[in-house]
Amino acid sequence: MKVVATIKDVRAARAALPSPVGFVPTMGYLHEGHLALVRAARTQNQSVVVSIFVNPKQFGPNEDYASYPRDLDRDLRLLEQEAVDLVFAPSVEEMYPPGFSTFVDVGPLGEILEGARRPGHFRGVATVVTRLFCLIQPDRAYFGQKDAQQCVVIKKLVADLGMPIEIVTVPTVREPDGLAMSSRNVYLDPDQRIAARVLSASLRAAAEAYERGERNAEALRRLVSQIIAGEPRAQLDYVSVADAETLEELSTVDRPALISLAAWIGRARLIDNIIVGQ
Ligand code: PAF
Repeated sequence: MKVVATIKDVRAARAALPSPVGFVPTMGYLHEGHLALVRAARTQNQSVVVSIFVNPKQFGPNEDYASYPRDLDRDLRLLEQEAVDLVFAPSVEEMYPPGFSTFVDVGPLGEILEGARRPGHFRGVATVVTRLFCLIQPDRAYFGQKDAQQCVVIKKLVADLGMPIEIVTVPTVREPDGLAMSSRNVYLDPDQRIAARVLSASLRAAAEAYERGERNAEALRRLVSQIIAGEPRAQLDYVSVADAETLEELSTVDRPALISLAAWIGRARLIDNIIVGQ
């Protein structure tokens, strides 16, 4: 496994890789969710490239950029075990040299849901992903369904800019009690970790209500809100029932719908989602 940190080196290493090339962009502190992306890339491509870069441009001024968990040595050991060919772990200065001023903005899709609560977040994501795609030039790129809006945003970006890259969405990997794996779960203390079960439990309850015939989107939102309100350590930020492709809020669930939420548990802001009607 080759590990490089500069643009010059990543270009040279990429050029030597046999195609097709699968690419997994990450912010490191890898868990089973990331490894599921790497394994999917490994089975579908000749070569696998992973990037590790905590992207300052997708964090708001009061967010957790400084404290975001990092452990490059551990990440590299895990990636070595997955037979990854190339890891790109650049510095902030390498990715954004002085004078860097070009941004990619996907428009309204990036301004709703997570984008409404985290202004500029998807502009930062779209910018770094575009930059990484230009450097790595993958045939396929892998993203987790847990970040459902990110998947929609990246597909739009690739379609709008005509990039010849297949975007592959990989199902969310969960802990045995249902909690979606996330690098931010490390912020939870033992009590909060137990409380965090309520997120996936509320989504499962909504999906079960849908299976029993509930098609009123507001009733599903209310159900999720009520279940989360029953856990005093969790504070719901939002719950949405939206068209799974356009992310427009629904009043009637008459097509595949993304039920998504964000909630605070202590200092951890966690997101999760489930799709119904597929
Ligand atoms: O999902 C993430 O970890 C990040 O948003 C990504 C795609 C690596 C861009 O920084």
